[in-house]
Amino acid sequence: MSKTTNDQGNGNSNGNSNGNSNGNSIAISSHKDVFTKCYEFNQHTKAQSLGLYPYFRTIEATMGNQVVCNGETKIMIGSNNYLGLAQDERVVEAAIAATRKYGSGCTGSRFLNGNIKLHEDLEEALAKFLKREAVLLFSTGFFANQGALSSLLENTDAILCDRENHASIIDGCKSSLAKTIPFKHNSADALRRRLKRLPETTGKFLVVDGVFSMSGDIVDLPAMQKVAKEYGCRVYVDEAHSLGVLGPKGEGTVHHFGLNSEVDLMMGTFSKSLGSMGGFLAGSKPVIEFLKHKARCFMFTASLAPAVTGGVLRALELMQEEPERITKLWKNTYKMHEGFKSLGFNIGTTQTPVVPILIGSEIKALQFAQRLFEAGIFATPAVFPAVRYGEAIIRTSYMATHTTDELDYVLDTFARIGKELGIFDDSAYREGTTRRVNNGYDFDVQDGEESEALRASLGANPQ
Ligand SMILES: Cc1ncc(COP(=O)(O)O)c(C=O)c1O
Repeated sequence: MSKTTNDQGNGNSNGNSNGNSNGNSIAISSHKDVFTKCYEFNQHTKAQSLGLYPYFRTIEATMGNQVVCNGETKIMIGSNNYLGLAQDERVVEAAIAATRKYGSGCTGSRFLNGNIKLHEDLEEALAKFLKREAVLLFSTGFFANQGALSSLLENTDAILCDRENHASIIDGCKSSLAKTIPFKHNSADALRRRLKRLPETTGKFLVVDGVFSMSGDIVDLPAMQKVAKEYGCRVYVDEAHSLGVLGPKGEGTVHHFGLNSEVDLMMGTFSKSLGSMGGFLAGSKPVIEFLKHKARCFMFTASLAPAVTGGVLRALELMQEEPERITKLWKNTYKMHEGFKSLGFNIGTTQTPVVPILIGSEIKALQFAQRLFEAGIFATPAVFPAVRYGEAIIRTSYMATHTTDELDYVLDTFARIGKELGIFDDSAYREGTTRRVNNGYDFDVQDGEESEALRASLGANPQ
């Protein structure tokens, strides 16, 4: 029988499942308590006590490429607001107008009471833009990946999954009955080796990110889809970081390579270039109709809020009406690629506005991020397990609206802190070609116990 010390709550802040310093209730019983791990979880507080915790920073105001934290202005180089549309007055006005017309929420699923005209308008506009038969909106991009993978694949199927695919794809694979077969990042040869072993009776589904969210590299789609076709494998591309970035009009990776007729299903998000939240799948009519009636995270969740839908619809129009945004984004991107490289930083294999700066040591990456913050720059680190141990990065990303002065300041500040923290001291740092390929760097990861403790807790990177 279980006994509680009081009825105030159920947490325990002192990291001890038997003690209770703040009057919260604790189950005392011989049965396993599922909260024990929560009471014992204290790794984040270690990082906090070192003054190096880089997550959940409070943003008090946003002015596009700058934000206010602790009353101080910071240059934002950690967002996915690639085209700077999230704060565009016309997008904000469209969101307000949609709210006035439909209210603050739809209070139900599209399936039942939550299907407003704006949802259908947005689906139609996206289908036209992407030259696809049909589109289905989801409440997040995460749900779009999960909805597709969990409903389309059966237990006799196999998902061929790039090892560096986004967490939402990994979780989608987990929620699917199909077998997941990971393959070496961006390797069509590795994909072929996996496909070769599968019988014809197995339904095959290749899933790749168009632009990989940590490394910033672009999927080798021409090679991948060729191999996939040879083995009767369907192709699915996550365009989260490529929509508004790649393609003649920002349509994404598939259009960038001119492979629209070769890719079966595209997934995208509104949480990056389109400056809002939500996601979608774009494909053929029968597939979209199937998903509409089978994808549980579409059917059993409230539909996109009117403000979001109206704002995204306007942002999609502006992206097409103002192609100079994409041109400026690439101008800024090339400036930063060149700038970091000429300073001696290793930016891996990036080809896009996602620019990871290799730091190496976990603790130095946290120190680096903290010093950047103190110098007025908002960027987040990614440490193990988001990246390989000893290959910690500062993940930066650039926007069309960043000014030359802002970008020069970012480069100067990185150079200063890089020297202060001695990250260039190892000659292998400069000579290394990529951070992904384990090419014999001997990183200094002798940061001792603190680094060990931090790496387990701080790996989660939400990009
Ligand atoms: C590659 C990729 N796919 C999917 C998602 C999920 O998108 P959303 O933020 O719309 O849930 C993200 C978001 O970080 C992403 O980077």
